[in-house]
Amino acid sequence: MRINIAIDGPSGAGKSTISDILAKRLDYVHLDTGAMYRAVAYLGLKKGLKMDEEDRVVDIIQNEMDLVLNPDGTIICNGEDITHKIRTNEISMAASDVSKLKNVRKALVAMQQKIASKKGYIVDGRDICEVVLPDAEVKVFLTASAEDRAKRRLLQNQEKGIAGDYETILADILKRDYQDSHRENSPLHKTDDATAIDSSNLSIEEVVDIIMKLVNEKI
Ligand code: DC
Repeated sequence: MRINIAIDGPSGAGKSTISDILAKRLDYVHLDTGAMYRAVAYLGLKKGLKMDEEDRVVDIIQNEMDLVLNPDGTIICNGEDITHKIRTNEISMAASDVSKLKNVRKALVAMQQKIASKKGYIVDGRDICEVVLPDAEVKVFLTASAEDRAKRRLLQNQEKGIAGDYETILADILKRDYQDSHRENSPLHKTDDATAIDSSNLSIEEVVDIIMKLVNEKI
């Protein structure tokens, strides 16, 4: 039996890494919904929009965005490979700004629900347990302390050759945490039916094992 797995949590908690490993293990597909908000921000900025021009941004999503999320993790927007271009600090903040807009969320949530309706998806984001997949068979809220997340992000950036210092990354994480959990539309929070996992003192493998146990109870 194929199920859906919903994973919510703040940025840098390890959602993407964990989801990728689970996808390989289960032969499922990882749907990175944050990448969708990032792609919208990227395209909006490229077209000279401000991130509060809600109607124009929605128009772009519906009429001017051909987004392909490949199973190998590459992201193609209107024929352009934006896999790495959407990971900059500028796009992170713009994605957080654009994700506040009600109708932008509505448009992207509809796309996400359509994709995951086939089952066999690991969907990670902020509103997956409550809004996108309220019927997901496994629901996880993955957290880690802001300091641990900043340390991990710094290491990841260094590996990718992206410049940046710990203090700036931590400040950016705290700012986005605040913005993502205090916005009016679908703020980040743990739902009662989600299993909370704090990954601060756990290895990636330990987190994967906990989620695999939850999955095995369902399938
Ligand atoms: O997970 P991420 O850092 O790539 O997400 C980028 C931004 O998009 C983040 O600030 C929160 C927002 N987001 C959201 O509001 N809902 C989602 N399901 C996924 C991401």
